[in-house]
Amino acid sequence: MAKKTKNKKLKVLVIGSGGREHALVWKISKSPRVEKIFCVPGNAGMAELAACDNISIADFSALVKYVKTNQIDITVVGPEVPLGQGIVNFFESKGLKIFGPNKKAANLECSKVFSKVFMKKHGIPTAEFQVFKNYSAAIKYIDKVNGDLPLKKYSIIKADGLCAGKGVVVAQDLYEVKDTISKMMVDKIYGDAGKQIIIEERIEGEEASIMAFCDGKTVSIMMPSQDHKRIFENDKGPNTGGMGAYAPAPVVTKSVIAKAKTQVFDNFIKGLKKEKIVFKGIIYAGIMIDCSGNIKVLEFNVRFGDPETQCVLPLLETDIMDIIEAVIDGKLSKLKIKWKKDSCICVVLASKGYPGKYETGKRVSGLEYMNAYLSNAVFHAGTTMNESGSVVTSGGRVLGITGWDKTLNTAIKKTYEAMKEITFEGMQYRRDIGVKGLRHLAE
Ligand code: AMP
Ligand code: GLY
Repeated sequence: MAKKTKNKKLKVLVIGSGGREHALVWKISKSPRVEKIFCVPGNAGMAELAACDNISIADFSALVKYVKTNQIDITVVGPEVPLGQGIVNFFESKGLKIFGPNKKAANLECSKVFSKVFMKKHGIPTAEFQVFKNYSAAIKYIDKVNGDLPLKKYSIIKADGLCAGKGVVVAQDLYEVKDTISKMMVDKIYGDAGKQIIIEERIEGEEASIMAFCDGKTVSIMMPSQDHKRIFENDKGPNTGGMGAYAPAPVVTKSVIAKAKTQVFDNFIKGLKKEKIVFKGIIYAGIMIDCSGNIKVLEFNVRFGDPETQCVLPLLETDIMDIIEAVIDGKLSKLKIKWKKDSCICVVLASKGYPGKYETGKRVSGLEYMNAYLSNAVFHAGTTMNESGSVVTSGGRVLGITGWDKTLNTAIKKTYEAMKEITFEGMQYRRDIGVKGLRHLAE
């Protein structure tokens, strides 16, 4: 049995090192219930709010030892990889409280085949698809459905397993479809992750992210948000881990939320019950909204989105520790979660060269001036402290400059204004974060 934590000041561990985890640490630090925060491994920004230690997040025994030594009450897991490797099962078997889905539930993100089959079986709207374990069967199918060029319908190829965000190819022609299948199944560029693939129907529309807290029985939907995946303005250039996000996203209208609730999350809960899956943590539905306002789920993630979390958590009014505990204890239905009426945006500052090979070790200046901005926060992603105590870049995505205000328009203005304080050599960012949202509001 996990220890009782009611009425006791909490010690909390956050696992991860990105902007998402910094936003989590920042939100957790605002809880009057929290005494001390720890991070493994953390980054230069998280180190201002928490004790950071460099333990491998794949070494569950070392993590358990760390939790016991530091008398940590609750562990919160940021990234999907340890969830897919069963960190929750391991911690629970040692009687420790941990926030996140177990290994079986994490398959909803870690295996695209499992996830798509789950959606289809339980009536969750998603694009048509076929699963292949065999290269020649996949090619035969492609020849049958996409007889002639230019390629029409079945042009989305997905590797089954986790591929650090590179496992989905939106192919532009028949050659690219076949080449992708060959790379995944014959050349095995993703190893076992490409043993099975999905060939999927291409759907059109506007994408949005709907994250929700889930204790296995109840789903509580957060403010909907929208990511900006491409490196350049107007959604041009290669995909990245996300160059910015804003919330709430006006494209997710009340009617879209109502559809997400009934078609996606209600069916999700029914599916969990039928398949005897215990799901506790965050369920994130990446959705496509078509021109008639109908939705299809592109993917499930079983964790907070990055950079969506950076713009959603500043809008949360309820104590995040109350929510985390309610999820772990299966008492989410008893909690009324409140959200601010403001809008929030997060603009990512990236290193020169990202998402390709990028430079690191560049000194970040101006961070100290950000303390003067009361409705802004800087969430670190790829930063570290050098030997002389300066913050330097250490990743592709470096910082997420975040700001909130009464309207999306003023939140955008405030955030880009505050951003002028920060510089590092080769810094690149998009100037149009939130602009799609403004267009919707003007409609
Ligand atoms: P996923 O990881 O499945 O969300 O896919 C990554 C990205 O590929 C999505 O954010 C979409 O931009 C695109 N994508 C995935 N599936 C489809 C689809 N069926 N039709 C159009 N675009 C898709
Ligand atoms: N922003 C997309 C993701 O977190 O997967």
